[in-house]
Amino acid sequence: PLTNINLSIEQLEEYISDKEYEQYFDIVKRNSKRINDLVTELMENSKPVESHKSALTAVQTILDNAIGFAKDRAKLKNIQIITDLQLKDEKVLADESKLTIAVLNIVMNAIEAVDANTGMIEIKSSSESKKCFISIEDNGCGISEENLTKVFEPYYTSKSNGMGLGLASSHNIIHSLKGKIDITSEVGKGTKFTIELDIE
Ligand SMILES: Nc1ncnc2c1ncn2[C@@H]1O[C@H](COP(=O)(O)OP(=O)(O)OP(=O)(O)O)[C@@H](O)[C@H]1O
Ligand SMILES: [Mg+2]
Repeated sequence: PLTNINLSIEQLEEYISDKEYEQYFDIVKRNSKRINDLVTELMENSKPVESHKSALTAVQTILDNAIGFAKDRAKLKNIQIITDLQLKDEKVLADESKLTIAVLNIVMNAIEAVDANTGMIEIKSSSESKKCFISIEDNGCGISEENLTKVFEPYYTSKSNGMGLGLASSHNIIHSLKGKIDITSEVGKGTKFTIELDIE
């Protein structure tokens, strides 16, 4: 099905070469790539004893990638992304594209959870005794205590157009790196995700 989406959008792009629609084409294309990455990721991680090819990756690179990708979604919704990035050269043992996906899934959820115009997302990085922390906090709808335990389950979604695979994928990736992922949330106030990884 993804091949059909991609071919159709390329076809449409040829018919409608209007600048005004360019960013929408981009969104469809990038999100179609995201679905592809998510599915690939889930399939890889469900293989037993998958040997994860990892390399040292700077935390800053991961956050730059994720923020870069999320920026125009945020702009379309007229919401702010605030950053407080303390980590510059600190590196973690992780595949760059996988860890980027793990963080991006969380950032995308934050964008989806907040209201247009008043939404705010704060992305932070910090470290403490050889551990690095990445946090993504939003002032969105929040998650009830009952649902907090479900959000990492594959196919759990509260969205009409959601697949419920984003957080399952993030959870898989972080755990495959022997890291931790935590959530705190209050309905109507917002949600904070924290990722903890060892600094190499
Ligand atoms: N920042 C957040 N604020 C409020 N609810 C959230 C947040 N992040 C996740 N959730 C809840 O967790 C559910 C699961 O998230 P997940 O990313 O796994 O799936 P999804 O966003 O619904 O679909 P997709 O597969 O497109 O990511 C969401 O449907 C939503 O109910
Ligand atoms: Mg999601």
